[in-house]
Amino acid sequence: MDLFLKNISQLVTVAADGAPVKAGRAMRDLRVLTDAGVLCRGGRIAWVGRMAEWKSSLPDDHPEIDASGMVVLPGFVDSHTHMMFAGSRAAEFALRVEGATYQQIAEQGGGILSTVQSVRGASKKELKRATARYMTEMMRHGTTTVEIKSGYGLSMDGELKMLEAIRELRDEEVISVVPTFLGGHAIGPEYRGDPDGYTRVLCQQMIPAVGKKKLAVFCDVFCEQGYFSLEQSERILLEGKRWGMAPKIHADELTSLGGAELAARLGAVSADHLERVSERGIARLAEAGVVAGLLPGVSFCLDHGYAPARKLIDGGVAVAIASDFNPGSCMSFSMPLMMTIACTQTRMSPEEALTAATLHGAAALGLAGEVGSIEVGKRADLLVADIPDYRYLAYHFGTNHIRTTIKNGTILEL
Ligand code: NIG
Ligand code: FE
Repeated sequence: MDLFLKNISQLVTVAADGAPVKAGRAMRDLRVLTDAGVLCRGGRIAWVGRMAEWKSSLPDDHPEIDASGMVVLPGFVDSHTHMMFAGSRAAEFALRVEGATYQQIAEQGGGILSTVQSVRGASKKELKRATARYMTEMMRHGTTTVEIKSGYGLSMDGELKMLEAIRELRDEEVISVVPTFLGGHAIGPEYRGDPDGYTRVLCQQMIPAVGKKKLAVFCDVFCEQGYFSLEQSERILLEGKRWGMAPKIHADELTSLGGAELAARLGAVSADHLERVSERGIARLAEAGVVAGLLPGVSFCLDHGYAPARKLIDGGVAVAIASDFNPGSCMSFSMPLMMTIACTQTRMSPEEALTAATLHGAAALGLAGEVGSIEVGKRADLLVADIPDYRYLAYHFGTNHIRTTIKNGTILEL
């Protein structure tokens, strides 16, 4: 079914004209059209232009949205989440407010491993139900494509349960889902004190099993002191690659280990976090064309400093922002909130933040040819926002401006 959006006051296309990313100064170039229209046909975008240029006529009963006074923009692409989980870490939040750090809580048996216990105890059905609820809420807030990582199983059974649940949601839910294997999220509790032993199990058993079943598009690892060393991370990512999973990495979050340099060397699709990336790491990411996946909500929630967004952008790196939605370090999936934090705390311009939350999110998932901008041929994933100007997305924070979410050319009833 066709859908026509007409009289759009501000149409933010984020058009890239076929380029995979808009790095450097181009990140500010949103290609805004005023008094514009978009025609969706067969789930894709069929026409984009000014209303004055609209020549065709559509039948009277043709489905359409009059978007006068509204901003229309591409659906958000949240390229980094851990949104499948069970249990609550609200008590940890309270402890952190009183001064405990993320690492201290992890060392005392909380953190990732506490969610692992809850996920191991949950059925696949329970995991799916909880995640599907968040998905609906996310779409209300404008996210139309989401990456979901495993990583709260940390055993063959636990990881496969998560990835199978993610695959079923991908097939059943309307939001586009990209699955990532993150068996290397923490050292499995059975291998406490033996990270090499757990790395061997990952490489010799878990990655081949995930690869054979084709359950994940990407393989990720938490490259960090107390988690996986550079050398262990490399082994895991190379094994993932051998099984057809492109590398992603949690890099330089808590310490400057050199995860960004490793990402560049391995040709990772993205290197995420980067709160403590070095100057050399920035240069390597730019040279290798690795997307920097910044997670400003984590820095805000853990209060541990921000990634150098300005240096990355000015250094020519394609910067994406994502929510990292998870129960420990960022209990929010609101992409507009991430944009606000990116602007006020890391000095990204509202235009850069919008490119980072759409086109560059798509690039961080290898999907820049499919989603992330409003261009003819791309999937018709669009948002209608009740704001006078696109900058209100970041500027007027703490409320949901998205009035209508359109997925594959269909208006969602959420
Ligand atoms: O991306 N940094 C590692 N992993 C997650 C946190 C997951 C958790 O605390 O449960 C992150 O921030
Ligand atoms: Fe993460």
